[in-house]
Amino acid sequence: MSALPAVPREDALADAPVDATLPPSARAQITIRGLSKTFGDAPLYEGFDLDIPRRAITSIFGPNGCGKSTLINMVAGLMPFDRGEVLFDGKTLRQTTIGYVFQNYRDALFPWRRAIDNIRYPLKLAGRSKVEVERRIEQLVASFQPTFDLNRYPYELSGGQQQLVSIMRALAPEPEVLFLDEPFSALDYEMTLFIRDRLQQVFIETGTTMVLVSHDLDEAVWLADTIVLLTRRPTRVAELMRFDAPRPRDIGTLTDAGFTVAKAHALSVFQREVRKAEGAPR
Ligand SMILES: Nc1ncnc2c1ncn2[C@@H]1O[C@H](COP(=O)(O)OP(=O)(O)O)[C@@H](O)[C@H]1O
Ligand SMILES: [Mg+2]
Repeated sequence: MSALPAVPREDALADAPVDATLPPSARAQITIRGLSKTFGDAPLYEGFDLDIPRRAITSIFGPNGCGKSTLINMVAGLMPFDRGEVLFDGKTLRQTTIGYVFQNYRDALFPWRRAIDNIRYPLKLAGRSKVEVERRIEQLVASFQPTFDLNRYPYELSGGQQQLVSIMRALAPEPEVLFLDEPFSALDYEMTLFIRDRLQQVFIETGTTMVLVSHDLDEAVWLADTIVLLTRRPTRVAELMRFDAPRPRDIGTLTDAGFTVAKAHALSVFQREVRKAEGAPR
């Protein structure tokens, strides 16, 4: 197991030309080009480019307020941008199935539907037959192994259980990309470890491309194949790092030398960015 040293920005995936001779799995799935977004007078993003690899987990990490949520919200179509282009395998968002897991699970589920009906909902919406819906539910239950009754209503479930249901619902239609914005930040540690592990298991089973915003560096590195380190605003990619520890990763991975090296490097980039902004007039 090893963590590759960080890749300098110039050599990064973001600028790599698409090589048609590469197998599809090696090419970027999401291409973000010239993305610009301004709130008020100060630009948050100005000509931002990034490629997000296929069949990989990509973590987005950066200082508070640098625009992590805004970035995935723009890419996932939840927020408009001023200029630029986002393509999924060359297709527009409308032609792509995506899933999104919100930080605030409390507002994410339909309170009047049982957990299981929340998970069924996107499948019914997509016009799947009853048999197909139930088959998919069985698969999801096998992958996530919820330890509670899915016939309960959201208010009868703990926060962690609700977030697990949100993730199952987001994955139900077999999205090409799953976006997660700090999905564990409101959960207790035990539940966080459990769901992270289930998520990794689903990734191993399905190879679903995942884009995860996290403010927890351990988590951002532990789950990811690629870690996107962002600067303060106007936000750029400070560095793209790879972390290639074999999966399944477990608690032991957290104390592996490769993990420690990768994390220390990410932390040094992060601190450099934070210090820059403290010293500089805004
Ligand atoms: N809808 C909005 N209107 C005005 N400003 C916003 C809006 N959403 C985000 N911002 C600003 O954009 C910046 C980045 O926000 P956000 O993407 O939530 O950061 P992060 O997720 O990295 O903490 C912040 O300064 C925030 O105040
Ligand atoms: Mg955020």
